[in-house]
Amino acid sequence: MTCTSGNITMVLCLWFVISVCNLHTNLAELPKFNQPTKGDETLRFLVVGDWGRKGDFNQSQVAFQMGRIGEKMDIDFVASTGDNFYDDGLKGEDDPNFSESFTNIYTANSLQKQWFSVLGNHDYRGDAMAQFSSSLRKKDSRWLCLRSFVVNAEIAELFFVDTTPFVNYYFTNPEDHKYDWRGVTPVKSYTASILRDVELALKKSRAKWKIVVGHHAIRSVGHHGDTQELVERLLPILRANNVDLYVNGHDHCLEHINDDKSPIQFLTSGAGSKAWRGDVKETNDEELKFFYDGQGFMSVELIENYVEIVFYDVFGQVLHTWAMSKQLHSAM
Ligand SMILES: *[C@@H]1O[C@H](CO)[C@@H](O)[C@H](O)[C@H]1NC(C)=O
Ligand SMILES: *[C@@H]1O[C@H](CO)[C@@H](O)[C@H](O)[C@H]1NC(C)=O
Repeated sequence: MTCTSGNITMVLCLWFVISVCNLHTNLAELPKFNQPTKGDETLRFLVVGDWGRKGDFNQSQVAFQMGRIGEKMDIDFVASTGDNFYDDGLKGEDDPNFSESFTNIYTANSLQKQWFSVLGNHDYRGDAMAQFSSSLRKKDSRWLCLRSFVVNAEIAELFFVDTTPFVNYYFTNPEDHKYDWRGVTPVKSYTASILRDVELALKKSRAKWKIVVGHHAIRSVGHHGDTQELVERLLPILRANNVDLYVNGHDHCLEHINDDKSPIQFLTSGAGSKAWRGDVKETNDEELKFFYDGQGFMSVELIENYVEIVFYDVFGQVLHTWAMSKQLHSAM
């Protein structure tokens, strides 16, 4: 097992010092983590989203299959696309739902790796900042959740983006939910600075593969559909910076959509527990490659210039596979 909690703690301390120094200049660079790799130009990881339900609604079955596939693939880490804890995030760093929905559920050996998580809209309904707390990392060293950050994993870089504050609806029509907007207001300048930081990080990246992870879909035919704010504000930056994959949750389904204007693949893995919503947007969209309304998860395998995406259901059966070889861009 390659646990990196020592490194992570050090990097977090550094990041804290740097962010405090930058408070007045607003020149924050996204915190960056080095994910140890096997050093052989391969990278394998699982993606699961919308999961924390104490094992209910097939969460435990999905977790079991993740363990099995994770073992077979010898994965390097797990990415979570948010909505980590239902219904209202964590109440605080001592909320027992952390162990009941995470530690005690993803128990397989192969899943004892670093988990990288973003927040979803449900996480913002609790104490959002509790999920960043080092006391959760003390309870379970796999856990790492921040708003926006970069993971450098040799051949790939992953850019995690805090998408919830982009969605106007949560501010204009919160219904009876209370969102924890500490640290993200004024939201216009907060989202503008995320876009600036992500763009800068993408431009600086020398990785062969650029993968962006957020909670909300850019494109989806599921219940929530496209996130217009991300289509308008984030997508142009991804297209201009050779992003390969955009990975998200939010819609409780598995789906794969091509971008019509770039090589970006839109991949939804938001089926870690409750699913079967039963509404799919009518589409005769040629870009829609795959849609599944039930529970499951996704794997990503990168071998030098080759990528393979696989979606699995609750029995670990393969539902959809997509692979591609990328021509090497000339370094000149
Ligand atoms: C669990 O998964 C099975 C197989 O896909 C499905 O038939 C069942 O309805 C699911 N249960 C729930 C609560 O979603
Ligand atoms: C834990 O989660 C359940 C839902 O699974 C929720 O009803 C409960 O309020 C949560 N407990 C705390 C302390 O937040």
